[in-house]
Amino acid sequence: MTPTPRHLLITGGAGFIGANLVHHVAEHTSDTVTVLDALTYAGNRASLDGLPKDRVTFVEGDIANPDLVDSLVKQVDAVIHLAAESHNDNSLSDPSPFLRTNLEGTFTLLEAVRRHDVRFHHVSTDEVYGDLPLGTPERFTEHTPYNPSSPYSATKAGSDLLVRAWVRSFGVAATISNCSNNYGPRQHVEKFIPRQITNLIDGIRPRLYGAGANVRDWIHVDDHNRAVLDILDRGRIGETYLIGADGELSNREVVGMILEAFGRDAEDFDHVPDRPGHDLRYAIDATRLREELGWEPRYSDFAQGLADTVAWYREHEDWWRGQKAATEQKYARTGQ
Ligand code: NAD
Ligand code: DAU
Repeated sequence: MTPTPRHLLITGGAGFIGANLVHHVAEHTSDTVTVLDALTYAGNRASLDGLPKDRVTFVEGDIANPDLVDSLVKQVDAVIHLAAESHNDNSLSDPSPFLRTNLEGTFTLLEAVRRHDVRFHHVSTDEVYGDLPLGTPERFTEHTPYNPSSPYSATKAGSDLLVRAWVRSFGVAATISNCSNNYGPRQHVEKFIPRQITNLIDGIRPRLYGAGANVRDWIHVDDHNRAVLDILDRGRIGETYLIGADGELSNREVVGMILEAFGRDAEDFDHVPDRPGHDLRYAIDATRLREELGWEPRYSDFAQGLADTVAWYREHEDWWRGQKAATEQKYARTGQ
């Protein structure tokens, strides 16, 4: 329990990581939460079902709306900023909402926390560092130069740099975290793991981009969120913390494990056209987070976490069914 209850503004709280964060805060702290979320295609109001009404308030709105943002920021003790356009494939077909939300939205929040002297934590991605070669021990650290590949990661890199500039120029009390690929409940079915799980539920074979050799460093969403709260509570102002749980796996390995969970043959998938500019490999060195803040992941068994995630999608078809057809129609346009 946090000793003194705080009032947090969580942007993007109806999205995957944000919703899991709001549930975590409601369960494990006595903080109150205001969620600001525009309910884009990626937001799902049902992700916030079952939360205590006296401690969690939902506001539907845009983080790039300065008046709305100002009115909310001035009421809170801290902002945890997760709202974003988050899907690489979408950023390749239409980058414009990525610029508006990820850059202009972050700018709008920074101006408000500057005016009202409010603590700010910016949730970002390891993709700002570009990619690493396959089959090397190299990992991203807080000192790796920025080298984003996609419109999504370029706008996230830009948002990180805005935060750094607002710390240095205006003394804003901000921290940044850059995390690797999250998995767990309530993730939109456009993303790799839920897409393949819901495909299998629907009798469709999983789809692997290219050869499937690309590597991602998987972390359970609850481990990510515990790290974010540790950084908010005890992180050094102005610092960046990398979050990762040593979970490197190739996409092919992950698909094999999902197929196994459905009792299917590990080769029962289709290759589809590769993502243009597809990052090869991500890998996080989270030494700073572990040594300075004592954070450790709790989900060390990926196969078990994945089995729990498969079970969640099987049990919550009402949550994802409405998104599935439109998502697959989008993929059909690129043959993916
Ligand atoms: P998501 O797409 O599931 O959720 C994003 C949420 O933001 C949605 O609820 C959406 O409605 C909301 N939103 C979008 N535009 C908005 C706007 N203009 N105003 C208000 N709300 C808006 O994303 P996610 O996977 O939960 O990612 C959350 C954050 O974490 C993002 O900043 C992302 O870059 C970062 N991140 C994600 C991962 C990952 O693996 N998913 C890893 C590292 C970092
Ligand atoms: O590393 C953190 C990032 O992880 C976050 O910043 C992003 O918001 C999040 O979406 C995620 O980005 P990725 O592009 O790595 O995730 P995605 O789920 O789209 O894809 C994971 C890998 O799987 C990637 O190598 C592409 C591949 N893929 C994806 C889909 C949807 C497939 O092979 N088949 C698919 O159908």
